[in-house]
Amino acid sequence: MADLQLKKVFKRYGKVETIHGVDLDIRHGEFIVFVGPSGCGKSTLLRMIAGLEEVSEGDVFIGGKDVTTTQPSKRGIAMVFQSYALYPHMSVKENMSFGLEVTGESKDVIEERVAEAARILKLEPLLDRKPRQLSGGQRQRVAIGRTIVRKPEVFLFDEPLSNLDAELRVQMRIEISRLHEQLGNTMIYVTHDQVEAMTMADRIVVLRDGNIEQVGTPMELYHSPCNQFVAGFIGSPKMNFLPVSVTSVVGQTVSVRLPDSQEITLNVEHGELAVGDSMTLGIRPEHFLHGESADITLQIKGDVIERLGGTTYVYGELDGQTLIIEADGEKDIVRGELMDFSFHLNRCHLFDKDGIACKQLAVEAAAA
Ligand SMILES: Nc1ncnc2c1ncn2[C@@H]1O[C@H](COP(=O)(O)OP(=O)(O)OP(=O)(O)O)[C@@H](O)[C@H]1O
Ligand SMILES: [Mg+2]
Repeated sequence: MADLQLKKVFKRYGKVETIHGVDLDIRHGEFIVFVGPSGCGKSTLLRMIAGLEEVSEGDVFIGGKDVTTTQPSKRGIAMVFQSYALYPHMSVKENMSFGLEVTGESKDVIEERVAEAARILKLEPLLDRKPRQLSGGQRQRVAIGRTIVRKPEVFLFDEPLSNLDAELRVQMRIEISRLHEQLGNTMIYVTHDQVEAMTMADRIVVLRDGNIEQVGTPMELYHSPCNQFVAGFIGSPKMNFLPVSVTSVVGQTVSVRLPDSQEITLNVEHGELAVGDSMTLGIRPEHFLHGESADITLQIKGDVIERLGGTTYVYGELDGQTLIIEADGEKDIVRGELMDFSFHLNRCHLFDKDGIACKQLAVEAAAA
């Protein structure tokens, strides 16, 4: 069983601390995605799990065993990097076989595993080529193949698809998900692409500045982000944020005024909200309705209209605040015209001045 735990893990480079005491529990067989902006510590955390980076403080457990100081080769893990290092003088087939030959696997097993990896990764026609005769994307597939053949207990991927073109990226994403389905082993996948995170993960770990912001299934993070950072990071296009001010607080019933002066009332969990407090209201682009009534209606003039076919994106303004709205591609949307877009209150997210989500309890009535 290859479950994995991080216990109060820190990383320091001299006086500079980049990982600030991370705790994480990963179950055997889970597909975990680390996601977050550049420099947040995704690779550092992964490299500490792999043993390629020393842990400054804290412990790493794999399969219940403390591996904090165990050599990388003894951890039962295999890692695929963004920058691949293939042996230039070896063919694709030799590059994929080499690791197994070193560990003394039989010829038949090597043949079988390389053939399977080549099939999964569509490398069959390229097996006799040298790395210099491959494109960047093809080389990356060989690097993944080299890992697959070793059948490790835990796979670690550090942005393995970044060098592939858009179409191949989507294909490979599906192949890696299939691979996980077939092998059923633990996988940790690093990306800054939230679409990859949403589509591949059993659970997503959102990182920021060396801390975990939230851990949850894709839909938990989508529906109940714990703060404005996670809310803005998960979902595409990004959640809209409108500045609002508190006009009344009665217990958990809070009313806020929108930029266009409409008031809405929500039942939320909160610490100490007071009249006059600044807050942020979040609404996802896909939660606006056009041509249907809902709790609240905003009048918005679309100044840019992007038609993608099935979907149309409307960029507009509400009293100086830019909004993006996702509308049905078949709906009649005219640039420059004032249009009604509505939303239901239970689709709203309310964040306090520190960006912490005030969880909605139940929706009360709306007032115009
Ligand atoms: N050897 C080092 N010395 C000092 N700081 C370092 C060192 N290596 C990494 N860092 C810092 O640690 C932080 C986390 O880096 P890391 O490479 O883990 O980020 P990342 O989330 O993988 O980013 P990216 O998406 O750009 O790959 C960054 O601020 C980086 O500058
Ligand atoms: Mg990185």
